[in-house]
Amino acid sequence: MLLTVLYSFLVVHNAWAQSSTVDAYISTESPLAKAGLLANIGPSGSKSSGALSGIVIASPSNVNPDYLYTWTRDSALVFQTIIDQFTLGLDTTLRSEIDNYVGAQAIIQQVSNPSGTITTGGLGEPKFNIDETAFTGAWGRPQRDGPALRSNALITWANYLLTEDNTTYVTNTLWPIIQNDLNYVAENWNQSTYDLWEEVDSSSFFTTAVQHRSLRQGVQLANAISQTSVVSSWTAQAENLLCFLQSFWNTAGYITANTGGGRSGKDANTVLASIHTFDAAAGCDALTFQPCSDVALSNLLTYVDAFRSVYSINSGIAENSGVATGRYPEDSYQGGNPWYLTTLAVAELLYDSLTVWNAQGSLNVTSLSLPFFQVFDSSVTVGSYASSTSTFTTLTAGIQDYADAFVEIVAKYTPSDGELSEQYSKTDGSQLSAVDLTWSYASALTAFDARAGVIPASWGAKGLTSTCGISTGGGGGGAGTVAVTFNVDATTVFGENIYICGSVDALQNWDPNTALLLSSADYPIWSITVNLPASTDIQYKYVRIDGSSITWESDPNMEITTPASGTYIENDTWR
Ligand code: NOJ
Ligand code: NOJ
Repeated sequence: MLLTVLYSFLVVHNAWAQSSTVDAYISTESPLAKAGLLANIGPSGSKSSGALSGIVIASPSNVNPDYLYTWTRDSALVFQTIIDQFTLGLDTTLRSEIDNYVGAQAIIQQVSNPSGTITTGGLGEPKFNIDETAFTGAWGRPQRDGPALRSNALITWANYLLTEDNTTYVTNTLWPIIQNDLNYVAENWNQSTYDLWEEVDSSSFFTTAVQHRSLRQGVQLANAISQTSVVSSWTAQAENLLCFLQSFWNTAGYITANTGGGRSGKDANTVLASIHTFDAAAGCDALTFQPCSDVALSNLLTYVDAFRSVYSINSGIAENSGVATGRYPEDSYQGGNPWYLTTLAVAELLYDSLTVWNAQGSLNVTSLSLPFFQVFDSSVTVGSYASSTSTFTTLTAGIQDYADAFVEIVAKYTPSDGELSEQYSKTDGSQLSAVDLTWSYASALTAFDARAGVIPASWGAKGLTSTCGISTGGGGGGAGTVAVTFNVDATTVFGENIYICGSVDALQNWDPNTALLLSSADYPIWSITVNLPASTDIQYKYVRIDGSSITWESDPNMEITTPASGTYIENDTWR
């Protein structure tokens, strides 16, 4: 009895703590965002005339900027939203839209384009004309997140259909599309890619994270429908991807978005990666950068604070309150303003975190996430806090307000008709760049759902481990280690990859079978960062591996002495 009373008090209290401004905004904006999103999908969307069935236009804007095209990334994120809403029972009217999307993607996949044919790289093409023909102009291509995001959406759909016993459709219609995409991911993830902002040609955290998710989900589906021939190769590449994902962490306490680009690396890329690979079953797992992991929270604070001084609409706002955020602080595209979808991504990451902390009944403060939590309670210390503690209550209430403050910013700069463009002005909040951006509407719907505690289907992030030796979170290496970057200039032929192993645990004790894969993003320079014991003589060699063929570098062994602290870069040439 007492417990029941206490419980209902807590629930009511929690409801009171939530911003009524945000409640009101969500109740008016939610249907407008849904309508805005559906208006941009052919064949019957009211703002997408000319788009074929199931084709999502990025925006009806056809000049400055011209977005009257269909991007594989935007379309997949929009349909992930639609498929989640339908399969979770939030909107049961969307089934024919999903069927149309499947039909359109089956066609688009086969369209030869400047990136290649379906078997020679064409799946990396970022955008198409809305009549499903190839766009042949100059563009930042390939963009290798598209096939991964599309298969994530389609696998979510497939898993739902399996619960309806519709195995025939899954096997005959969805699986061939998914298999094309995932073979592409498995074969090409280690090649360079333009990032999701279509500007930097290197390796990209967002792309790597969604590729990793896609192969894990693909393996599960393959097993479920007995298509097991792909399982071992996709699993092996998923393990490589998870390993490579760790290398984006940097010791300054955030994720560097791209391996190239020459910027600070603080970028919404990394926040979007966490929300689009959210798996509540994995709790606050740092290996997969879950929203409530210490690495994701430390990164979030760094990302958000990077925008406080670059937009004048943010001036005077306290650090424990939300601000307008954009793609990255150095951005100048269309004036370099805040974006709705990036500001909403911050809120979504925090709502996802609150959902997990409340479900598990506790939260952890680590040395890495301490600066984040101190924003909400300056006296908090490292430790685990059960939901019965006042620290848990203080922190989660502060974080709920902080999350809501990002939505309040979006609400403040949403015009009364509810339309969401791509950007809003950094000086007065008025709408800028592409009008009615479909992705902006999708981002509003997913953030609103996250605030309501909606949990998307699990994709298998729980319980993953990685033995690859690259350190993540936990402070970029821990006591007594230094981050060592090995760069080796090595020319390879198709199928060959360069690995490293050596004389310490972190270099797999000379075992070539578990050697660490280097990234070829800056080919012919292959690269990896590994945390190695400080002040230690370490021997190593690079290994060239093609399938089961292993070629060691010639003797003698290479050797370095690691410094006592800091980082170390070793530049070598294959011999
Ligand atoms: C168009 C791309 O869509 C956008 O992301 C990019 O920032 C600009 N080109 C400028 O390169
Ligand atoms: C530019 C954005 O940078 C990119 O991510 C997006 O795919 C296109 N616009 C279309 O919305």
